[in-house]
Amino acid sequence: MILDTLKTLLSAYGPTGQETQVAQVIKQLLAGHADGIRTDVMGNLIVEKKGQPGGKTIMLSAHMDHIGLVVTDIEETGYLRVTNVGGVSVDAMRCRHVVFGNGVHGVAVCQPTKGETAGMQHLFVDIGARDREEALSMVQLGDACVFAPDIVPMGRYRLAAPAMDDRCACALLTELLMQATAPRNTVVGVFSVQEEVGLRGAAVAAYQVAPDLGVGIDVTAWGDTPEVKLPAVKLGEGAAIKFMDRSMVATPLVRDALIAAAERAKAPYQREILPFGGTDGAAIQHSRGGVPAGTLSIPCRYVHSACEVIDLRDMDSALAILKEFVNGTY
Ligand code: CO
Ligand code: ZN
Repeated sequence: MILDTLKTLLSAYGPTGQETQVAQVIKQLLAGHADGIRTDVMGNLIVEKKGQPGGKTIMLSAHMDHIGLVVTDIEETGYLRVTNVGGVSVDAMRCRHVVFGNGVHGVAVCQPTKGETAGMQHLFVDIGARDREEALSMVQLGDACVFAPDIVPMGRYRLAAPAMDDRCACALLTELLMQATAPRNTVVGVFSVQEEVGLRGAAVAAYQVAPDLGVGIDVTAWGDTPEVKLPAVKLGEGAAIKFMDRSMVATPLVRDALIAAAERAKAPYQREILPFGGTDGAAIQHSRGGVPAGTLSIPCRYVHSACEVIDLRDMDSALAILKEFVNGTY
């Protein structure tokens, strides 16, 4: 079930550049469901499901990495100095529970500032160490921490957790690869690395896969809380089909094929025009001599915080759209 897959994936440790644990979980879930599974030099997990003769090759990409903090120095007092990996804001980090790959827990704290806005230089992590020496027995410079997993059901359909960006899409892609039997087109599912620092994994994967079409699957922002009006995307109203963001203008062929797939599936969907951000879809579109590409998004509130909220009905809509999309004629 997709909820179980999602919960398993949300619990895996995987800051940008250290996605191995997430890849391992996906590999186990997909064992016996694919025609080929491999890991490339960058750490992208590439899963192939063969289509019918005459079908095209479709690359679907969901990123495994999660934003976090990396240790840059350790104070004499045992506090860790850190910097961000990916788009982390100091506000979202204040007094948050974080965890390292070796299981060390901590609290991210922001020192008081006088009249200046708090920056990364004001942020530190308290791991309960007495001094620098004790801290060094627990973590090293270069170790990274992420928001500790904390999965909270809200209302009937919603779920809050860190790493929803982009493990909800990893769960979708995993389910699609498990459920799609003999699709018309060959589906290459890429569980990509290093998206949060500039779509780096997907770029390398797209070159190798050389697909005929590509779709990034990622979360998108919301416009349905007080004072927030951008974009016109609401939770629970279906997956969002991207028209543009700051990284790409979706190729009309792919965008319209996603819309047609949604209509065939009778799945609710929304049109997404995002005035910021970017996804793996852009990396695919720019690869080689250019690849027709788009993005399918899961509406998500409070993206890049410890409580990213999605609506499970949007996951159902996205899965239904993808199932139709991989069976389309291109
Ligand atoms: Co992100
Ligand atoms: Zn993302």
